[in-house]
This record gives sequence, structure tokens and C-alpha cells, in this order.
Amino acid sequence: MKAAFFMRHGGPEVLQYGDVPDPVAGVGEVLVDVHAASVNAADWKMRAGGYGPVSRFPYVPGRDFSGVVAAVSEGVSDFKVGDPVFGVCDVGQEGAYAEKIAIKAAIVAGKPEALSHAECAALALAGLTALVSIEDTLQLTRGETILIQGGAGGVAGLAIQLAKHIGARVITTASAANHAYVRRLGADEVIDYRTEDFARKVSGCDAVFDTVGGEVALKSFAVLRSGGRAAFIASGAAAPASPRSDVRAFRPQVGRDRRHLERIIALALAGAVRPPEITRYPLSEAAEAHAVSEGRHLRGKLVFDVR
Ligand SMILES: NC(=O)c1ccc[n+]([C@@H]2O[C@H](COP(=O)([O-])OP(=O)(O)OC[C@H]3O[C@@H](n4cnc5c(N)ncnc54)[C@H](OP(=O)(O)O)[C@@H]3O)[C@@H](O)[C@H]2O)c1
Repeated sequence: MKAAFFMRHGGPEVLQYGDVPDPVAGVGEVLVDVHAASVNAADWKMRAGGYGPVSRFPYVPGRDFSGVVAAVSEGVSDFKVGDPVFGVCDVGQEGAYAEKIAIKAAIVAGKPEALSHAECAALALAGLTALVSIEDTLQLTRGETILIQGGAGGVAGLAIQLAKHIGARVITTASAANHAYVRRLGADEVIDYRTEDFARKVSGCDAVFDTVGGEVALKSFAVLRSGGRAAFIASGAAAPASPRSDVRAFRPQVGRDRRHLERIIALALAGAVRPPEITRYPLSEAAEAHAVSEGRHLRGKLVFDVR
């Protein structure tokens, strides 16, 4: 099958496009003909060696996809050949930048007709992460105020919509070119982080969701009211240490399951959440897509058309 892969860690240029062996579905797995796969920041962090050396080459990255079931293995009764599905690879597994992927059937969900493969791929890991962060971890409630850092990104754009659906007031940060976009997603107040200091403009928030990391994450504690809570997904495996004893800091634990995928789809079909803006690339241009994603100013999601 064709895939985008790398033979050593390095910059975007180490990504190649070519033939690799087809995966084989093991017990309890389905083999999926991938139609679309999305780019997540983890993909280029993995490619660059940021998570440590991978165990084998060629290494095919990619954590989420949408496609059609091509084969079902022993022990799979919930899908049949031809079913459209989408999903997020199990923790520790990748391989979605490819024409085929083998994955545990239990963590795959049915793709609705109303959403395209590209939309489902764009909603998969980003949607799962936004749901786990806003609903499960922060447990945001109606009437609360949340600051969402990096509103124009893939996860944050979904988080804005979820927070509005819950009935919260949303403040977000974005560069001026993305203000109209984040307002369309529902943001009530937008701060241009390039010209304004969010820590001076905002205070008394019930919650913060940080998708930017670094200094932005650390400064975010200052905007919380006493008793507030913050969730961080761009500061590594743990939340940054809180400089305040009166607020709580969380690193959302984003597991993989069908239930959350079905919830994000239900919200999308109900019109509560729209898929993020999508920029499409052919899989053969994975290196170019990584360079864009790594620049960290893409609006919405990058998605590969795989076939
Ligand atoms: N399961 C997980 O734990 C999980 C899953 C997915 C992602 N993540 C992590 O979450 C982070 C976000 O990922 P993503 O894919 O949603 O988005 P991303 O591609 O990392 O972020 C892109 C957006 O960030 C905005 N941005 C950049 N610098 C900013 C700043 N200083 N202040 C405010 N906004 C800023 C840009 O908007 P402007 O052009 O307007 O600046 C751009 O639209 C990544 O670090 C990723 O690794 C974790």
C-alpha cells in the first residue's frame, strides 16, 4: 500500500511517500481502507523524535482517520465489510497516513453519511480531546466563564463550540486574522494575543483550557478566580505546576473509546458543533503539510486525501 513514512527522525523533509507492507488485522480488529487522515501536532513531535526514538522503520505516523471497512477479523461482530467508519488509533499506536490501517474494532465508530471522510478525520482526535477536556476534566457548566487559549486551532475550535453548547461564556485568544473565525465558532470575547496581554485583560475565570503551552500556559493561572480549574494539553504529559494553591491544574487523560466518538458525531449532527475549517493535502505532500502544522498558525485542521 501507499503511505507517508519516515526512515529516521528529523525535519518535515524526512517524510517520504511510497510503498510499505499492508497491515494485517489481528483478533478483534478491522482492516480499514483509509480515505482521509488528519494531521495532529503529535505527528510532527513524533517525527522529530520529541517522544523518543520509535521502535521500527519505516514508521507510518497518523493518529486518526476515516474510511471503509475492508476486512473484519475473528471476534468482530459490530462491523462488516463496506461499513464507513472513523476512529483514533489506540494509545501507543499510529499508522493512519496510509491506504490501510488495522485497528481494534471496539474503539472505532460508524461514520454518518451526513459528514464527509475529511470532516470525520478532522473531528476524531481533536473532538475526543475537546470533549475529554471540556466535559470530563473541567466539567464546565452553564453560566461559567472559560478562557480558551489558541482559539483558531483544531482542538480549541471544537472546545469553543462545546463550551457555548454547555452555556458558558467563552473568551479566547487568536491573532487578528482569525477573530472573525473564532467569533463564528461562538467566542463571546476575543483577545489579540499579539497586541494585548490576556493576563491584564482577563480575570475571575472559572476555567482555562490551554492548547498553546509554554509561557502562555504558565501565565494562564493568573486569570482564574479562587477555586478555578485549568486544563493543559500542550505542556507535555503533565500539567504545569500551579503557582497558586487556590486553583487546580489538570492534564486531561485522553483515552480512546467509541463512546466519545459517537458523542462528538451526535453533537455535530445536532448542529451543536461544526467540523473545524479544513485544509486538504494529498498524502504524497505530507512533508509540506507537516511544515505548515509545525508553524502553529494553521486555522482548523489539516486533512490528507488518502485515496
Ligand atoms: N490528546 C491530546 O492530548 C492532544 C490532542 C490533540 C492536540 N494536542 C496538543 O494540543 C495542542 C494544540 O493542537 P491543535 O492541533 O489544536 O492546534 P495547533 O495546530 O497546535 O495550533 C494552531 C493554532 O494555535 C494558534 N496559536 C499559536 N500561537 C498562539 C498563541 N501564542 N496564542 C494563541 N493562539 C496561538 C494559532 O492561531 P493564530 O494564527 O491566530 O496564532 C493556530 O490557529 C498541540 O500542542 C497538540 O500537541 C493534544
